[in-house]
Amino acid sequence: MYIGIQMEKVKRTKIADLLSRTDYGTMVNVKGWVRTRRGSKQVNFVAINDGSTIKNVQIVVDVEHFNETVLKEITTGACVSVNGILTESIGAGQTAEIQAREIEILGTCDNTYPLQKKGHSMEFLREIAHLRPRTNTFGAIFRIRHNMAMAIHNFFHERGFFYFHTPIITASDCEGAGQMFQVTTKNLYDLKKDESGSIIYDDDFFGKQASLTVSGQLEGELAATALGSIYTFGPTFRAENSNTPRHLAEFWMVEPEVAFIDLPDLMDLEEEFIKYCVQWALNHCQDDLEFLNKMFDKGLIERLQKVVNTAFVRLPYTEGIRILEQAIADGHKFEFPVYWGADLASEHERYLVEEHFKKPVIMIDYPKEIKAFYMKQNDDGKTVQGTDVLFPQIGEIIGGSVREENHEKLLARIEELNIPMKDMWWYLDTRKFGTCPHGGFGLGFERLVLFVTGMTNIRDVIPFPRTPKNAEF
Ligand code: 4AD
Ligand code: MG
Repeated sequence: MYIGIQMEKVKRTKIADLLSRTDYGTMVNVKGWVRTRRGSKQVNFVAINDGSTIKNVQIVVDVEHFNETVLKEITTGACVSVNGILTESIGAGQTAEIQAREIEILGTCDNTYPLQKKGHSMEFLREIAHLRPRTNTFGAIFRIRHNMAMAIHNFFHERGFFYFHTPIITASDCEGAGQMFQVTTKNLYDLKKDESGSIIYDDDFFGKQASLTVSGQLEGELAATALGSIYTFGPTFRAENSNTPRHLAEFWMVEPEVAFIDLPDLMDLEEEFIKYCVQWALNHCQDDLEFLNKMFDKGLIERLQKVVNTAFVRLPYTEGIRILEQAIADGHKFEFPVYWGADLASEHERYLVEEHFKKPVIMIDYPKEIKAFYMKQNDDGKTVQGTDVLFPQIGEIIGGSVREENHEKLLARIEELNIPMKDMWWYLDTRKFGTCPHGGFGLGFERLVLFVTGMTNIRDVIPFPRTPKNAEF
């Protein structure tokens, strides 16, 4: 019976559940991928991982009871199904192991499998993104990523926010930055153009120029001014040619939008939201965080705990510029210039957060010229009620604002910026029909996962990164 090819049917247990069981002597079944195999002529120890936890389960194989063909196929990467007796383990660092009775090879794996040895570079693993979820590191990252998504839904659901689905294909450029990917079914080799050389879209799929969305905010505002509090959580796209460790061409964004909120309450929501997510990771992802803390970043868990227990600084942009100018006067060197009106670079944001305050900073009241058209204008005529949350290691993790709810002021700003008005009629309707104060923000999901995992490159916290010149897998 030890050599069964036709195995006895035993219900599968996930390793995460199995390791906490103490009903020793029970017949169990596990299925998973072989991580390592070691041992002697008499007895082999095979470590199996099934992705349910970072921990492996140890299979003890009494060699004389198994046929040689099966034994030969228990190689690193092979997929196996094991029936065996759950046994208390005497080895350090594990509670239960399995004394194998039957082993079935579900999928063999030869020595061309690239994950034979440990210690591959992150760069190499990016080239094999189809296999990297099988490593400890990426298993941990993707379990944490899932947990962050759950935390987000829980946070908003508990507070009476409705999950609202905004379109992915759109004809409006929310951020007005012209970084959109076009969506078309037109024959690109044979484009219809008018006398001035502009493309005519009448015969295109949507009958007008369409693109992938850069943000669900504008439609989110329509929903907030009806349902009160909503959030979106979906993919967004930016054709910005920034090859940095913090930018993706396709990323996920969480965008709550709230009626009747003002700037102080918006900042409270931002702070409470991030702390909730980080605390969730500390509560639910302990094993994975401990692994990442040990292998990559010895300060990770401490940094997460610190964020949860620290009040974020609230800092007007003008005051931020003053601090940066003082730093320069004191001899600090920045690559990019600092002056009132400048869009802060990552180095400036990180100086404020990591060196000056040593805490997360919520910056507010930005010059209107460097922010989007929809932000509420302050009475000074110069600044708008934008809020960016700046984080250690990451820089900007959230961008948001109170929205301009006054129809005339919004219209004036749209005209000033030359935004095509006919495309915005439905957005302007909210300001015509029962307008109300409201605001919201967008959190870059991958930037949150970057912070929580301690990874240093955003390409390593999304399964299949899309960046300039890269759309493999
Ligand atoms: O600051 P952003 O551009 O704000 C908006 O899109 C607003 N419509 C949000 C709102 O108020 N509803 O983007 C929001 C966040 C940034 O703070 C950053 O975390 C992330 O999205 N982000 C990116 N993440 C990865 N790759 C990129 N290319 C990103 N661009 C923005
Ligand atoms: Mg921003």
